[in-house]
Amino acid sequence: MKKVLVTGGTGFIGSHTVTELVDAGYEVVIADNLSNSRTGALDGIQKITGVQPAFEKIDLCDKVAFADMLRRHCGIDAIIHFAAHKAVGESVRQPLKYYRNNLDSLINILELMPEHAIEHLIFSSSCTVYGQPEKLPVTEQSPIQPATSPYGNTKQVSEAIIRDTVAASTNIQSIALRYFNPIGAHASALIGELPTGVPNNLVPFITQTAIGIREQLSVFGNDYNTPDGSCIRDYIHVVDLAKAHVVAVGRLLDRKNKAAFEVFNLGTGHGVSVLELVHAFEKTTGVKLNYKIVARRPGDTEQVWADTAYANKELGWKAQSTLEETLLSAWKWEKYYKESGGWE
Ligand code: UD1
Repeated sequence: MKKVLVTGGTGFIGSHTVTELVDAGYEVVIADNLSNSRTGALDGIQKITGVQPAFEKIDLCDKVAFADMLRRHCGIDAIIHFAAHKAVGESVRQPLKYYRNNLDSLINILELMPEHAIEHLIFSSSCTVYGQPEKLPVTEQSPIQPATSPYGNTKQVSEAIIRDTVAASTNIQSIALRYFNPIGAHASALIGELPTGVPNNLVPFITQTAIGIREQLSVFGNDYNTPDGSCIRDYIHVVDLAKAHVVAVGRLLDRKNKAAFEVFNLGTGHGVSVLELVHAFEKTTGVKLNYKIVARRPGDTEQVWADTAYANKELGWKAQSTLEETLLSAWKWEKYYKESGGWE
């Protein structure tokens, strides 16, 4: 049984990936400092898979504690590194929090990997590295644009750090997965997205408005150069995204990668506007949303969606879920979470 360390494994994408890894026959160790997640995810994972993965509450910036953890869980074959701060606005207000956390943790991982004979790393990157692309859909060869936030910059710098480290090392092999907009939840509704405080992202804000936690959804701008004036994104079901990680880990472990550092776009290939998403939610759930158009949100990209041809061909992976299925899963999770009284 191959052993995978999942950092940030109690978080949104992390917890869904853990269930897919367990289902695929991997032994999983989760490392998470619970700064933006709860241990309730572990119960959800256990109920879904019948397996309780080892869990370590640890801050990966603490290199001594991290090394100690790797000694206790020897024989790790690969690391999937999700653990990072990800709120764009907060990163503008507190840039050092983002640079310190997102970069220190990655550097610690890269320094400790050779010492513990770990050769394979999957890194959570983001479509934010493309900024506003000149040509759509965006391919992996599209130029990287200057980051519009410290958060975005940590993703760009992290990719550069991995690329340089891999180039200088004979052993480390890595894949960076550039996520578009992950939404939705596991079909069981036992795990899902759990933002702390007021959600920054669109779909949690929609489901919280629909259930009555938020009074009104603000749609940030209807004067963009798009068919209905609102921003366009590529919304991908988190379970589809999670499955891509299982494929990527297998690719590295089976030594099927074509370069020591590879990059893949993970999206659906379809652009959906904010207003289209709002109306799709209303239609599929039958719940009317109280929303109003407000000013643009500073730093937003007008439109971006993925060219997924390279990931489809090379990974043999394709996002399967429809937007309706994905939105329904997010809504089911919101209702389940509320009905179950919430996680501890
Ligand atoms: C952003 C980041 C992305 C990051 C992700 C995780 C950029 C360009 N994108 O995605 O890299 O991985 O956050 O946090 O930095 N919207 C509303 N009302 C709301 C919330 C959002 O209209 O209350 C709109 C936004 O203007 C945007 C769309 O919904 O057009 C999606 O926003 P959001 O869910 O926050 O994701 P991104 O900004 O695309």
